[in-house]
Amino acid sequence: MTALPDVSLEPIVYLNGEVVPLSEARVPVLDRGFIFGDGIYEVAPLYAHAGGRTAFRFEQHLARLSRSLEKIGIANPFNNAGWRALIERVVAANEAEADLAAGQDAIAYIQVTRGVAKRGHAFPAGIQPTVFVMVTPLHLPNAAQRAEGVRCVSAEDRRWLNCDIKSVSLLGNVLMAQYAAENGAFETIQFREGVLTEGSSSNVWVVKGGVLIAPPRSHKILEGIRYGLIEELSAECGIRLEVREIAEAEVRAADEIIISSATKEVLPVTQLDGQPVGAGKPGAVFAALYAAYQRAKATEAQGAQQQGAKNESGERITD
Ligand code: PDD
Repeated sequence: MTALPDVSLEPIVYLNGEVVPLSEARVPVLDRGFIFGDGIYEVAPLYAHAGGRTAFRFEQHLARLSRSLEKIGIANPFNNAGWRALIERVVAANEAEADLAAGQDAIAYIQVTRGVAKRGHAFPAGIQPTVFVMVTPLHLPNAAQRAEGVRCVSAEDRRWLNCDIKSVSLLGNVLMAQYAAENGAFETIQFREGVLTEGSSSNVWVVKGGVLIAPPRSHKILEGIRYGLIEELSAECGIRLEVREIAEAEVRAADEIIISSATKEVLPVTQLDGQPVGAGKPGAVFAALYAAYQRAKATEAQGAQQQGAKNESGERITD
């Protein structure tokens, strides 16, 4: 018997104080998220283990959420403990409805918009932000994608210059993802005036002569939570890391290209615009970072289990 696809199951979500099935969650059409794309979001993995689920690097995700909100002038509706409790509540509701099986990795999607108001561009006074949380199964890249690597295409980065804000105004990114899809590619790698920026929904790393090279943190890219993590993991693995602008020609001459995101972890790119990357196979730096990433997951899970045992409170979302 084949397993039921999870589209048949309806996630239980949180919207403005209520926990409801997804099909019952409604926002007014004058929500500024709908009208202006005036809001921010977060995507954090919740890895399953024997003691429950661990929101991986959640402190860092919450810090980025807080930074994004601050940059667009929305007051953070919860403190970190509040966000953690909220995610726990949504996870518990999904488990109760069997939408989330035991042992299944999940992804937490958080969205905060400025709220609902009569249409007018400037911030309206006295409105409440709209808060939405959804927890769904996480489908990581499969073993074949990791073993063979993925194909990417490239394009000019035409997005705005506030890419450091995790804004729901994602049209530029959507067009880049669609460009990849139309070209049978996994992701579009973007260049701004001949310099590497990032993917449509991932950060991009280059390897040359055993050195890992990353574009600097700036307004031109979203600083992935994996950005800081890979900095740590490369140090742990004894891989030299250089943070600097990377010319398009260097990307095309790279030994390895690696993409990273919450939903992809680290993934090797073995073809760019139809040309093989390096030897056309995943490289040693990818292999080392992937193994280190899995160790980091195991370490966080272990810490969470010990914490959970101390609290004797069953399933807990910890980090
Ligand atoms: N995207 N850059 C962009 C433009 C992204 O959208 C993402 C993640 C990243 C990587 O960030 P992180 O390591 O924190 O996932 C970089 C998420 C997964 C998304 O939009 O679904």
